[in-house]
Amino acid sequence: MTENSLDSGLAVVILAAGAGTRMKSALPKVLHRIGGRPLVGHVLDTARDLAPAHVVVVVRHERDQVADAVLGVAPEVVVVDQDEIPGTGRAVEVALDALPGFAGDVLVLSADVPLLDADTLGALVREHRAARAAATLLSAQIDDPQGYGRVIRSADGTVSRIVEQKDADDAEAAVREINSGVYVFRAAELRTQLARVGTDNAQSEKYLTDVVGLLRAERLQVAASVVSDVALVQGVNDRVQLSEAARALNARTVRRWQLEGVTVLDPATTWIDVTATLAPDVTVLPNTHILRSTAVSEGATIGPDTSLVDCEVGAGATVTRTDATLAVIGADATVGPFAYLRPGTELGVKGKIGTFVETKNSTIGAGSKVPHLSYIGDTTIGRNVNLGAGAITANYDDITKHRTEIGDEVHSGSHNVFVAPVRIGDGAKTGAGAVIRKDVPAGALALNVTPQRNIEGWVETNRPGTGAAEAAARARSAQKADDGSQEAADG
Ligand code: UD1
Ligand code: CA
Repeated sequence: MTENSLDSGLAVVILAAGAGTRMKSALPKVLHRIGGRPLVGHVLDTARDLAPAHVVVVVRHERDQVADAVLGVAPEVVVVDQDEIPGTGRAVEVALDALPGFAGDVLVLSADVPLLDADTLGALVREHRAARAAATLLSAQIDDPQGYGRVIRSADGTVSRIVEQKDADDAEAAVREINSGVYVFRAAELRTQLARVGTDNAQSEKYLTDVVGLLRAERLQVAASVVSDVALVQGVNDRVQLSEAARALNARTVRRWQLEGVTVLDPATTWIDVTATLAPDVTVLPNTHILRSTAVSEGATIGPDTSLVDCEVGAGATVTRTDATLAVIGADATVGPFAYLRPGTELGVKGKIGTFVETKNSTIGAGSKVPHLSYIGDTTIGRNVNLGAGAITANYDDITKHRTEIGDEVHSGSHNVFVAPVRIGDGAKTGAGAVIRKDVPAGALALNVTPQRNIEGWVETNRPGTGAAEAAARARSAQKADDGSQEAADG
């Protein structure tokens, strides 16, 4: 089969109807996220890589939420409702009803087994076809098989049936070869046997796994392919397994980027969503989260202690100890340490957003700097501007938000408040402590702080007996003595 051409003999069924009780969650299990994507999204993505003729997703628990999530990312799939009969066997049965006349191979995937890759599944389908088996299941040897169905083999080593954990006797429970919940079946045989599966078991469910024993009883061939990397078949049933799967997926993602030329100093504390992209020679320092559709260009350094959500970072930029969402950071710009970039922040080439600075819905032009202790919201700043420490845009008058517009080459003094709406013309300057309420024309110097007045002796009069008053008194008498000796010397 060539890339992009559909495999007309392959249908994929994804089971996503279960309640996921062990998650103890209001959110359906298959919508819990790892690597920035819901569990079912990972399985859908892998399924599509196989280019099957049909993809059917079976839903029931919180069906609308799950169906919306599925169709939102994969509008071409068929969503099928499972009825009141519980169990994975019933789920596959209703899926087959949506594929009338289909006579090829059915690959069954579980929405809660998110780490399987298309290479492993492609190989499974090829093995199944080469062996002309009625069914081929993907199994794994694991140290702690607790919770999984066990693969029971006959004396000659062939698969004879699968026993669920809850139905297993001690000898069966001791088997360490587990059913991954992933199989390929020939459609016709699957249909026939599913019709015969009952619900006489510990969970009163129609088990898909019973098909294996029924096929063998018909003397049909069932093969098992033992996966070498057990991490691939890890199921997610509770939140412990959710975090384990998230870590395994992350390790895979980090490794992929490392092999693409990204330096990741500490994979254990670096989290990269599957949807993020990184260019060669990016450096990622510890405790850094690169999430959603964040894209980082060549040579940028991110971290330590940084979280980027849906951000764009230009080539050569440095982003240190920063929390940023929906922000664009220009090439060779620097951000942080301790910066908070909220949605709509756009920092130009070689710009700077420095220490303890919060920005929102603001454009900061090329070469412009907001270096220290500032809040910049709903603001447009031109090129080569320098805002002094403590610049605040007062964008909110209790009713609406207003914009501040600052031209090119503006320098503001420390501790300025820009009361929006207000415009500062190109090349203008403002004095320290100014509260800018009126527009400043291009090239003007704006000063509005009252001239300084010193009220002599205020502290000793109004704060007698305090340390400050005593210190002032000492300074005054020392000054007097000094003046006296000076007078004597002069005299
Ligand atoms: C299932 C297998 C078990 C295997 C394990 C691997 C069965 C009976 N058991 O057990 O042998 O080792 O997976 O991870 O198949 N689902 C439905 N409809 C239902 C019930 C479940 O669509 O009525 C879906 C769930 O949403 C889930 C998947 O099927 O995505 C597996 O269901 P789950 O209840 O997690 O089965 P396990 O107990 O893990
Ligand atoms: Ca499961």
